[in-house]
Amino acid sequence: MTSAHTDPSPVTVRVPAKVNLELLVGPARDDGFHTLSTVYQAVNLHDDVTVALDDEWNCTVTGPYVDVVPTDSTNLALRAARLLADETGVDTPVHVSIAKSIPVAGGMAGGSADAAATLVACDRLWALGLSTEELEEYAAELGSDVPFLIRGGTAVGSGRGERLAPVLARGSYHWVFAISDIGLSTPAVYAECDRLRGEASVPDPTPNSELMVALRSGDPHTLAPQLTNDLQEAAISLRPELGEVLASGMEFGALGGVVSGSGPTVAFLVEDVESAIDLTVALTATGAAREVRKAIGPVHGAHVIPARVD
Ligand code: C5P
Repeated sequence: MTSAHTDPSPVTVRVPAKVNLELLVGPARDDGFHTLSTVYQAVNLHDDVTVALDDEWNCTVTGPYVDVVPTDSTNLALRAARLLADETGVDTPVHVSIAKSIPVAGGMAGGSADAAATLVACDRLWALGLSTEELEEYAAELGSDVPFLIRGGTAVGSGRGERLAPVLARGSYHWVFAISDIGLSTPAVYAECDRLRGEASVPDPTPNSELMVALRSGDPHTLAPQLTNDLQEAAISLRPELGEVLASGMEFGALGGVVSGSGPTVAFLVEDVESAIDLTVALTATGAAREVRKAIGPVHGAHVIPARVD
């Protein structure tokens, strides 16, 4: 137990990115969010978030995205720390340090991942002893996909994406992500989806049972044709070159391809690690994406790791 006179050591949490294997968008709700049915999978592109006691609430970011992540009070990780402090009566500020590797505004929940990691890290730092369910409830206040980044694995999301149910998924899947140099705004992509739909009435979405069967099979060939995203058309409408990226990936041997979340990252499912390397090389050579990265899913959600040595 921590003595009253000894500050707790900083806590580092590793958190994955996500890809949506299925993203079915229903009608807009009165609160502006859309009813969703989605299947999330956590993949091993990670951010590491460290929280340490400090004299004031503040945040720093390191890594390739340092210029595009805000470090003021709008930073979602900092907001997560302050929310948890307010809700639990903690009055000891923290410094949140984010070693960022997940693409920013890429449809892979990078900001949400940092918020999820911060909740898990502050729970440990402040010795709150909250359950995963309690942390997921706070997470839902910060964003629709924050609870999933705490849970990880493969899960169905309903409501606005924050209500989770586990999915039986066998095996590991190999992914290749084509990452754009300029992000897309999630609200803008949802708004474009509404615009394209016009007055058409949209039913409440339900999960596709064939996707569940495919996940139980563990076979990427069975899963690939089930990948689907109702936001894809809207993302391509705002960023037409994404259509070309998708076509290139399929031409170079991907089993399936889909825009990840609200984009603009494009996710390709491949057969095995060799195919992932081949596709990464081929897509990199086309220059169609700023960066191409391999990943494996599913992986664990946000979890404490031994402290970083900088
Ligand atoms: O929940 P999150 O903060 O990630 O949502 C960002 C934005 O994405 C929302 O403000 C809303 O415009 C849109 N969104 C939506 N329906 C959802 C999730 C997000 O319209 N289910």
